[in-house]
Amino acid sequence: MNSRRMFLKRGPALALAALAIGSLSPAAFHHARTQRSEPNKASIVIRSDQPKGTINRNIQGQFAEHLGRLIYGGLWVGEDSPIPNTRGLRNDVVAALKELRIPVLRWPGGCFADEYHWRDGIGPRDKRPRRPNASWGGVDTNAFGTHEFMDLCEMLGAEPYITGNLGSGTPQEMMEWIEYMTSDSDSELARLRRQNGRDKPWKVPYFAAGNESWGCGGEMRPEYYADEYRRYATFIKDYSGNHIHKLAVGSHDDYYKWTEVLMAQAAKQMQGLSLHFYTLPTGNWQRKGSATQFDETEWHATLVQTLRMVEFIEKHSAIMDKYDPQKRVGLMVDEWGTWYDREPGKDMGALYQQNTLRDAVVAAINLNIFIEHSDRVQMANIAQMVNVLQAMVLTDGEKMVRTPTYYAFKMYQVHQGATLIPIELSAPEYKVHQGSVDQGSVDQSSVPSVSASASRDKDGKVHLSIVNLDPNRSAEITMKVAGSTVRNVTGELLTASTMNAMNTFDNPNGVKPAPFSSYKIQDSQIILTIPPKSVVVLELH
Ligand code: AHR
Repeated sequence: MNSRRMFLKRGPALALAALAIGSLSPAAFHHARTQRSEPNKASIVIRSDQPKGTINRNIQGQFAEHLGRLIYGGLWVGEDSPIPNTRGLRNDVVAALKELRIPVLRWPGGCFADEYHWRDGIGPRDKRPRRPNASWGGVDTNAFGTHEFMDLCEMLGAEPYITGNLGSGTPQEMMEWIEYMTSDSDSELARLRRQNGRDKPWKVPYFAAGNESWGCGGEMRPEYYADEYRRYATFIKDYSGNHIHKLAVGSHDDYYKWTEVLMAQAAKQMQGLSLHFYTLPTGNWQRKGSATQFDETEWHATLVQTLRMVEFIEKHSAIMDKYDPQKRVGLMVDEWGTWYDREPGKDMGALYQQNTLRDAVVAAINLNIFIEHSDRVQMANIAQMVNVLQAMVLTDGEKMVRTPTYYAFKMYQVHQGATLIPIELSAPEYKVHQGSVDQGSVDQSSVPSVSASASRDKDGKVHLSIVNLDPNRSAEITMKVAGSTVRNVTGELLTASTMNAMNTFDNPNGVKPAPFSSYKIQDSQIILTIPPKSVVVLELH
């Protein structure tokens, strides 16, 4: 409705004619309007003459919790399943995820971590206890435990990041889990691991003491958790040459209290502090908004919410800088992504949600933010990898589909471990002037119409990633690389004709990358035309 009104203002004759014959579907109407809009004029200068530090590849990390159909059904089907699998892990999902070159995988939660007892998940599977999943419902068979998780990490080439149980466990239990996984000695626990089929110890580079200890992890006050963290961290030991980065629970918007107390009282005992922030279109947990049914006002509101990540990172960083000016402690954004209302009438498992072009745009904006703040952000784990929240792949029985978010991650791989190249970006704002959503009022502040980041890889190739946030106007970007001349541009473009375009089991290729070729060279500058609502990743030659 709103877009129709705006269109009438811009192109009355065509709109009236179209409405008169009633021939335009909403998608065609949107497309027609898009075609008529003037592009936003923007400029980017890539300061390749001022390279910064390394972008930690772990900012493209993933998260897999015992929740809904993520582990059971999404990853683990068991050795006897008709779904093709390797040692119980489904081949299609593992193959798709492998292409993402996932650097690090967080497990087993989430809230589930503070109720998980690792001994339940080792030894013969038919002897493992069935326990209620008190956080997310149902019964966990414990068929997927430490060995299965480590097997998955090895198949994916990802480093394990384990969240230990501080909420309902003990320091002894945590210490023994680490010994079981990493000791090469002939201690009883190392022997038990061998007996269970794994001779050599695993490397465990990241281990957290608890999850959201201010909430589902124990409802603790920051002072109490800081003391508990110090106690548990003392027993997170390095065995047999393994070196663990110890991670503490951080906050999300309670940075003044929680982050301040943690940094003041426990910074010396940690190598990382977590930050959780989810994008809810409405910013309201009671009525978050739909994953697939939204108009431009809600598209815009989602991007306003996403960009709040900048504020969270910068406010956390400012406090961390006070106590840790050398930036030794990493900010680990170990839960982020979109969180929508459950789809009515669908029971696809807890926190299952579809994923549209909007999610790919949200993912790319967040990755640009992490890249820009990579001096402090050392890890980020999107929630969650399969079938839960902003997933990479969705499954239904033996079927699997890659989401638009999957492709955004795939395109951004070029930045993994590369050198950050600062950019000077100037772009008009994107604002919606009218409309509301049925969930009530939403934040309609303006957002930049373009988000971008750049890096140089180890072979010297410069990559530029650009997101056009405006769903109506293309961005015409005049781009220069300081100190060098670009002669050729290659890359990929992810877009679709509608904001809520998605991949379904019946139509798995609705949204996927295509080659990018919309540029021209003019007076030693490159003019890029970036389509509305799109993600573009370019290599500059
Ligand atoms: O990702 C879903 C849940 O969100 C996690 O279990 C918890 O840590 C967070 O609140």
